[in-house]
Amino acid sequence: MLVNPVKNLKEDDVKIFLVEGTSLKLLEDTLKDFKSLKPKVEKVMEIEKFKGKKGESIKLIDPLLYIFSLGESEKITEDAYREVAAKVSARLKKDKIGKAVVIADTKYSKAITEGLMLGVYDFDKYRTKDKEDRFDVEAINILNGNQKDIKLGSITADAQIFSRNLVNEPGCVINPITLANIAKEECEKVGLEVHVYDEKWIQEQGMNGLWMVGKGSETPPRFIHIIYKPKKNKKKSKKIAIVGKGLTFDSGGLNIKTGDYMRTMKLDKSGACNTIAIMRAIAKLEPDVEVHGFIGAAENMPDGKAYRPDDIIVFRNGKTAEIDNTDAEGRVTLADVLSYASEQNPDVIIDMATLTGACVVALGEFTAGLFANDQTLADTLLNISKITGERLWQLPLDDENLREKIKSPVADIKNTGGRYGGAITAAMFLQEFIADGIKWAHLDIAGPAFTEKEYKYYSKGGTGFGVRTLIDYILNTK
Ligand code: BES
Ligand code: MN
Ligand code: ZN
Repeated sequence: MLVNPVKNLKEDDVKIFLVEGTSLKLLEDTLKDFKSLKPKVEKVMEIEKFKGKKGESIKLIDPLLYIFSLGESEKITEDAYREVAAKVSARLKKDKIGKAVVIADTKYSKAITEGLMLGVYDFDKYRTKDKEDRFDVEAINILNGNQKDIKLGSITADAQIFSRNLVNEPGCVINPITLANIAKEECEKVGLEVHVYDEKWIQEQGMNGLWMVGKGSETPPRFIHIIYKPKKNKKKSKKIAIVGKGLTFDSGGLNIKTGDYMRTMKLDKSGACNTIAIMRAIAKLEPDVEVHGFIGAAENMPDGKAYRPDDIIVFRNGKTAEIDNTDAEGRVTLADVLSYASEQNPDVIIDMATLTGACVVALGEFTAGLFANDQTLADTLLNISKITGERLWQLPLDDENLREKIKSPVADIKNTGGRYGGAITAAMFLQEFIADGIKWAHLDIAGPAFTEKEYKYYSKGGTGFGVRTLIDYILNTK
């Protein structure tokens, strides 16, 4: 679906007004014949008992127009526009209307564009039965919309959709090798440099965490490095590393998950899918900052060759860990990826990982846990998330009593820290692999990366949560 700005309204345009509460001012200001229309609109409002609550809508048949409300004006945020815009495009899809014009406060052009594009998303490629009924909305224009914001919103939403599509593919389609192939193909297409390394290289490089987790699978692990360098590199630009957890399927390994918990574990590659999506978007947006994407792709499976509880791993950076539970595999793969990323001397490392069920218990499924070794970085991400609508909540890394729990009698650390504070001890494990002097933030996206019910502009399945916030972060790095 395309979103474009448009300068004029035409007689036969399907018009969609995004209004605050029940206000008709926007209609008054834009429609010449509003006087004759007003009684009609008011009548429909009365019949439909239109209260002007967020997302509430009315439809007028002749002329064909829709009014969607954003709710009370004091509660209106950027994300409210995104949410209502998603309702708009979903409605057009349902009503089989291929083209329309949105009339709204144009300072929200980016959020409206994102909402419109995300609202029609549906992972329908494997559903054969309702194919005939399906309808694609072709284009929605925004009256006097801001060209630059619409372009930015389109690229951002497109990235989020790219990530969703990849997350939604099951483990029989996406394994470490196919994930690496897609990363290479899709990123090279937009001019990025991509290196994919095989299991031989992974072992030679001492990435034993990634190797050990991956070796129980039919499909060996892969290490993916994606590079964006700004063209006009006059002054020395900042360097950002994005790291994504890339477990194409997490069965738990020998500490195998039971059925209910194993279900949906195709989601465990969400951080990686986000990383690929973000890198593609960055290639199109061309900011003046160097960005590297790092992914350790592996499948966690039980097998005669699988790693075991009690195993001791020597990681790339020389630290050692005792395996307490093979289902705490994400941190074991990320250890080596974070070490490798650290060696590239970035100013900042941000990782995204569906790391712990404990984080979902702590914050619920709609908020990601944020951890950082630098409060300015944490605050920057928290502020951006308020605009992007991707909820973050900071959790602590300074609890030294909790840190004791990942100590091991036979190695430097062990890969679990018990039931209490599980999201925090997992983050503390990762912190061991961040080199001194590098600013680091970790987003535990286990909750919001995937949804089993629709909400806001999310349909069932992968959400691409984190993509918008990180793109915004990169674009605002100077
Ligand atoms: N991938 C899971 C975490 C997860 C759980 C993501 C639910 C999304 C939804 C991770 O690898 C895992 O299995 N973590 C264990 C850690 C435990 C064994 C210490 C968990 O959270 O139960
Ligand atoms: Mn696991
Ligand atoms: Zn996992």
